[in-house]
Amino acid sequence: MAAVSRRAFIGGGVLAGVGLAVGLPFALEGTGRHSTGEQLRSTARLPRSFTLPLRLPPTLRPSSTEEGVDRYMMTTRGATAHILPGLTTPILGFEGVFPGPTIESRRGRPVAVRHRNRLPIPIVVHLHGGHTPHESDGYPTDDIYPQDMTYLHRHQGMTGMDGHAPMPAGDVSHGERVYRYPMQQRAAMLWYHDHRMDFTGPSVWRGLAGLHIVRDDEEDALGLPRGRYELPLVLTDRAFDADGSLLYPSVDATLVNTPGVTDPYVAGVLGDVMLVNGVPWPFADVDRATYRLRFLNACNARRLRLRLDPEPHDGLLQIGTEGGLLAAPLQHDSFELAPAQRLDALVDFSRFPVGALVTLYDDFADGRMHQIMRFRVGERVGPRFTAPATLSTIEPLDPTKATVTRTFRFQRGSVGHRDGWIINEEPFSPTSVAARPKLGDIEIWQLFADFHHPVHVHLDPFQVVGRGIYGPGPFDAGWKDTIDLSPGEQARIAVRFRDHPGRFVFHCHNLEHEDMAMMANFVTA
Ligand code: C2O
Ligand code: CU
Repeated sequence: MAAVSRRAFIGGGVLAGVGLAVGLPFALEGTGRHSTGEQLRSTARLPRSFTLPLRLPPTLRPSSTEEGVDRYMMTTRGATAHILPGLTTPILGFEGVFPGPTIESRRGRPVAVRHRNRLPIPIVVHLHGGHTPHESDGYPTDDIYPQDMTYLHRHQGMTGMDGHAPMPAGDVSHGERVYRYPMQQRAAMLWYHDHRMDFTGPSVWRGLAGLHIVRDDEEDALGLPRGRYELPLVLTDRAFDADGSLLYPSVDATLVNTPGVTDPYVAGVLGDVMLVNGVPWPFADVDRATYRLRFLNACNARRLRLRLDPEPHDGLLQIGTEGGLLAAPLQHDSFELAPAQRLDALVDFSRFPVGALVTLYDDFADGRMHQIMRFRVGERVGPRFTAPATLSTIEPLDPTKATVTRTFRFQRGSVGHRDGWIINEEPFSPTSVAARPKLGDIEIWQLFADFHHPVHVHLDPFQVVGRGIYGPGPFDAGWKDTIDLSPGEQARIAVRFRDHPGRFVFHCHNLEHEDMAMMANFVTA
């Protein structure tokens, strides 16, 4: 589809996007009308779909479990991945792998992760969905500088600052930093990723993301499918150069000075290869059993609409979201998942005949990107799980008890003299404060969006109160940490921050928008 007709297309369906979309220097709607961004084109030779086996990320073992704390050590370094057959891909990897190794922890049992940085550039590690004190939340300027500073010193200042003020130093460390997670939170699938100010997009694209799964007694008591019947699925779109290296349109390829991406990609970077746990269009052999599929959309900018075909009995039976279990299961024939969102679903493969091929599609995309992966149903019979009518209790955050209503507008705007993305007319600055919530209070946040913006709030999950004149949408149930806003949309969420005073961020999780300043601070007290 040509750029012109694409813009016409969004004009047809979208309210507030129409006027703004005309004449913009970059493509806003890279995949039809469903994502804000532009798709890169791979020149590498790509494998046929469903020919490579799915892999699961390795699980990281604690280096010590003494004194009631699980201690881990993770080293971030440059490494080589085997993603495309016959080619190698240089990555940035936690422990040298992509996705990074999975940490499994238990509610109430503190975790400490010593992150060592052996990359030439700084990193910041954020546990996304973690109920974490400020010091360990991975504030965007709390850099872990490299152990070896040669590269930074060589490149600093070389490309010019392009109108940006020098980055204010946060609470920086050198070579390593210990992040402490109290883990006083519900069972849920969290993820950790780089969060360095201005450079999160390229760093995550090159590999800096992994899963952190929290378990608890409440969830154990349900007897959900476990072991071989529980599959974490990290979905990322990427694009590859002919030699197998990852393509990414950074303005400053050194990832040191000037943030952002080149013009056509300012609205978001989309890939043309779909990876599941780092494998392009994989297949997975499954038993005739109920599986728990735990999806994470770890794409920089791509929104997904997940659907299995042929449709399993009960479709995609949602049991959880970003903040853990729902109160009751919800049946979906397809499920929309924006960047950073998670879907916890039960899928019944037991009623398919042996040899059935069940394909996972992204109905928001066409061409090869319509496909994600394929399940091949084998002979072996495993347990069939019937979900109970009640999964958990969700305390509703009563909007009538809100002490304050705040309004945040997520819009395109200038950042210095460049095009960027801003909140309430302001580009991100570590020193300005957009809100000062009182710990324990319920607040209503009204969010407005000009284009697609998946909005993520740190520290605590929230509940969606409504969208426009309607109630919450079909994918809004439970404790969310990221809400998917559509062009021209207005939504209300109820937030309540607890326990940890300090400075935290909320931001758009389209990583190109985040890097181009769509982030703001709130300070809890
Ligand atoms: Cu997943 Cu502030 O990030
Ligand atoms: Cu955005």
